[in-house]
Amino acid sequence: MVKTIAWRENQVVMIDQRKLPMKERYVVCKDYRSVIRAIQDLVIRGAPAIGVAAAMGVALGALKIRASRTDRFRARFDAICREMVAARPTAANLAWAVERMKQVADQTSHRGPEEVKLRLVEEAQKILEEDIAINRAMGRHGHRLLKDGNRVLTHCNAGALATGGYGTALGVVRAAVEAGKRIEVLSDETRPFLQGARLTAWEMKASGIPVTVITDNSAGYFMQNGRVDAVIVGADRSAANGDVANKIGTYMVAVLAKAHKIPFYVAAPMSTIDASIKTGREIPIEQRDEKEVTHLRGGRTVPDGVGAENPAFDMTPHRYVSAIITEKGVLTPPFKPKIRRLFTSA
Ligand code: MRU
Repeated sequence: MVKTIAWRENQVVMIDQRKLPMKERYVVCKDYRSVIRAIQDLVIRGAPAIGVAAAMGVALGALKIRASRTDRFRARFDAICREMVAARPTAANLAWAVERMKQVADQTSHRGPEEVKLRLVEEAQKILEEDIAINRAMGRHGHRLLKDGNRVLTHCNAGALATGGYGTALGVVRAAVEAGKRIEVLSDETRPFLQGARLTAWEMKASGIPVTVITDNSAGYFMQNGRVDAVIVGADRSAANGDVANKIGTYMVAVLAKAHKIPFYVAAPMSTIDASIKTGREIPIEQRDEKEVTHLRGGRTVPDGVGAENPAFDMTPHRYVSAIITEKGVLTPPFKPKIRRLFTSA
């Protein structure tokens, strides 16, 4: 299984997801600003992976703070945290991870800045390890929804590359395969960044799981022709009522799945569920550079003078979601009381 991100000798190393599958290159971040750039430029992407990167990024930032007084250290650390949280707006895991790092700083502040720094570095690595364990737990719960011989459609990349490792949606597929089921993956190519064509296909191939790439606009064709048994996607942020924001195009797939009576599953760790917002309408949707749409491999594909819009995510209302797979178990509708219970019993 590929290593998405690692902490090495006070540096953050990540596989460069812009270059896959053509080149396997690594980016080394030596300061927190280079981590922010890596998140913005999609060197690292996928909500849980962004969370891990953010935690490591603020730990890197803390290490470089020269302040012996706790209040000065804390003021600088809080400023770094604010910058980090603003890197990308949609993935809930970003703010979740930074908040967790701030809590560690709160709890250890009486021991002085040097001790806080050590604890922050430990915590960032703990978030990474926990994320992998959480994904495996989601896999254990979620694979029961899949049967031997199922063909699973997925959108974007919610695999090892989008997480600390193993994956959320693709983690469920991995767990089904590990349980002896034969599963085939249909991967939407996922315009414009091609996470499905480049990343899902790359990591499924590397794991020996049969995968076929389809264009985003052919999902309906495959459903209509009986070639999809289930859809599994990841999530960037879910609301308290079960509405889900995920990669642009997910909503279309969910509506199509409902029209064809195909189950539509969302694999989302609790760190992705934002119980503070009532519905998905409150989820901020990132608007990315129009160049990602108007250009392909550096060349323009849209006539000069014509612009493009590039929302990076869309919101799928909970009525299209058959189940949400979490590390605590599989939630079925109605989601609202079950999500509330999940957080009150946590
Ligand atoms: O823009 P990206 O590549 O960060 O978007 C990623 C997705 O939409 C994923 O499906 C989501 O983060 C879930 S990853 C387990």
